[in-house]
Amino acid sequence: MRLPERQLAVLEAASATDERTMDEIATETGLKPETVTGAAFDLRDEGLLAVTETTTAVAELTEEGRDYVADGLPETRLYRAAVDAGAASSAAPMGEVIGRADLAGPEVDIALANLPRKGLGTIDSGDLTVDPAADPDGDPEATALETLADGGSVDDEGVLDRLASRGLVDLAERTTRAVTLTDAGVDALMEGVEAAETVGQVTPELLASGEWADVEFAEYNVEADAPAVEGGRKHVLRRTADRVKDVLVGMGFQEMEGPHADSDFWINDCLFMPQDHPARTHWDRFALDVEPMAEIPPALIDRVETAHRDGWGEDGDGYHSPWSADFAREVALRGHTTSLSMRYLSGYAGAELEPPQRYFSVEKVYRNDTLDPTHLLEFFQIEGWVMAEDLSVRDLMGTFEEFYRQFGITDIRFKPHYNPYTEPSFELFGDHPETGEEIEIGNSGIFREEVTGPLGVDCDVMAWGLALERLAMLTTGAEDIRDLHGTLADIDFLRNAEVSY
Ligand code: PHE
Repeated sequence: MRLPERQLAVLEAASATDERTMDEIATETGLKPETVTGAAFDLRDEGLLAVTETTTAVAELTEEGRDYVADGLPETRLYRAAVDAGAASSAAPMGEVIGRADLAGPEVDIALANLPRKGLGTIDSGDLTVDPAADPDGDPEATALETLADGGSVDDEGVLDRLASRGLVDLAERTTRAVTLTDAGVDALMEGVEAAETVGQVTPELLASGEWADVEFAEYNVEADAPAVEGGRKHVLRRTADRVKDVLVGMGFQEMEGPHADSDFWINDCLFMPQDHPARTHWDRFALDVEPMAEIPPALIDRVETAHRDGWGEDGDGYHSPWSADFAREVALRGHTTSLSMRYLSGYAGAELEPPQRYFSVEKVYRNDTLDPTHLLEFFQIEGWVMAEDLSVRDLMGTFEEFYRQFGITDIRFKPHYNPYTEPSFELFGDHPETGEEIEIGNSGIFREEVTGPLGVDCDVMAWGLALERLAMLTTGAEDIRDLHGTLADIDFLRNAEVSY
């Protein structure tokens, strides 16, 4: 049998009785580990070697972890300083103890958070008392850090997770591969294997001498493991937005654009939102201290005011509550992109308005919400509207079913809802693929006559605002919106998340 040199070297270094790791074989043969791995897989494919894989969790100290191995954990240092300050017998002022402990910047907070957690002592209105019987030397976190620093391994997953969440170790999985000779491998060696000289690369010399025609070229093994290359890539949310745009353009929609900071007129008044509506107070709105918006078509302002004061249409009734054009001209960050739909439907944005028409945007909106796993102060809304004669709720539902189906979501549900500007209105819900929780993914409806009338539209308009982040949560399985946006996003998630469609 003839084998390329490197394969022969690996075959000869392998044993029929002991597993040898790729690293061991690399050391023995003087080949690079990746060369050994490539050759080992080739030999496996030829039936001469068996390759086994074991995955082990490995923990590596971070720089901060290493600092604490050298200096001691901040909470231990605080404990010791407290004992020196007499806090083991009676409470000592915290400021004094911190001063003695010689803790730098963020270490103070770290120490104050971990000292009570570990039962080393208590903090009460600025005084520190420590437990004289506590044993910071036996602290499992400190012991684990030392073991890791000495090259040892730690099995206690609870402690490892804790250290990882403190940023003192990085947890990763390591795959070790090992080989053993198969019976066929042993037979081949007994019968004798010759080294076939192979060439890995065509060189100018080979070409010039004409030798290239006679040499044997090494084959590429496209299945061999290669180091992962983590280059830059588009953010998963941006990729989802791009996909949403593709889908909507495919469904015949055109894109709208317009200002993030807009007048209350376009954001709320056109939508028949009464000026004393709770969502229009300063609590929800990011008001901007800029000049009011001057350029709004006066005739449109008049019609919107009429709708608010007296209603629109034959049996319409307005709010009969105060309405002021000055308030309408005030500028704020838009809380929804329905402001764009108003600009387009009014003809102000220059859109073609002969029905049927379909428009969309995937743009940022701003709300003074409380942060939680499904809410951020800014997020992306997938806005859209369809203008046509005789639209019904079935058209609305069918459009959503078609849209979400493009993302593999086939079980959306509708719940009757209330918006001042649509009747009927529906909220949309979907199931989170990981938690099974029902989450709201959008809001929709058919615009009231009080909205379309003043804008000069005399056919039906169905419209919606869907949350891009919620769609991304359903398609990627992210459980917290902060995994998608901002500084808390997990880099591995961002590297690996796929946009499904
Ligand atoms: N503006 C609504 C929201 O932000 C969405 C919506 C748009 C609902 C158009 C109905 C019609 O929730």
